[in-house]
Amino acid sequence: MFVTFEGIEGTGKSTQIGLLAQELTRRGQRVAVTREPGGSLVGRELRRILLSLETKNLCDRAELFLYLADRAQHVAEVVRPALAQGMVVLCDRFTDSTVAYQGYGRGLDPALLRTLNDTATGSLVPDLTILLDLDPEIGLRRALSRNLRAGAQVDEGRFEAESLAFHSRVRQGYLAIAATARERFRIVTAAIPPEEVFARVLAACLEPRP
Ligand code: TYD
Repeated sequence: MFVTFEGIEGTGKSTQIGLLAQELTRRGQRVAVTREPGGSLVGRELRRILLSLETKNLCDRAELFLYLADRAQHVAEVVRPALAQGMVVLCDRFTDSTVAYQGYGRGLDPALLRTLNDTATGSLVPDLTILLDLDPEIGLRRALSRNLRAGAQVDEGRFEAESLAFHSRVRQGYLAIAATARERFRIVTAAIPPEEVFARVLAACLEPRP
């Protein structure tokens, strides 16, 4: 089973993925945890470039193709082999991030992005996508304090430095994407305590699927 986690910064995706991996492992499943950008060897180089404040002048299309390159390599090297071995793959961000950020956020054509995503993934679609939904004002505040705690404000601040308006567009974009693919999306509010979020995330994962 292929499960992706989406949402703006500060929604607690990695906390939820960690909790879910633990619980599914306890229940006897073999679980692979991965992320985009940066899930493959080449992807780690791309992640450094993509999230660095030094690449502030990266144009929108160059940024897009780096995310797509990361995704193509990640699917080929990590995701498909793990799925072929019968593992549950939990992925922090996937194709919907590109439509939300590069499409709704940056203004590139969402229909074009869907086609390019298909090319990058060989049309791999998640079985389940958990969208952690949160007011961007709260999300950005959380992400900022996390970055300051980690001392990562220089290396990983490029998207956090975007305006509130940008993140509001991304959030609305996610909700619009979810509305067109209801069968695979579950929207979970991230405005409640993490253990309550987790109860909903786990319930979504345990729902029987066709
Ligand atoms: P990351 O640190 O993984 O996310 P988070 O802040 O949620 O922990 O940073 C990844 C950033 O890259 C995030 O701001 C969203 C952005 N992104 C895109 O713009 N397009 C994409 O296709 C992907 C996968 C990520």
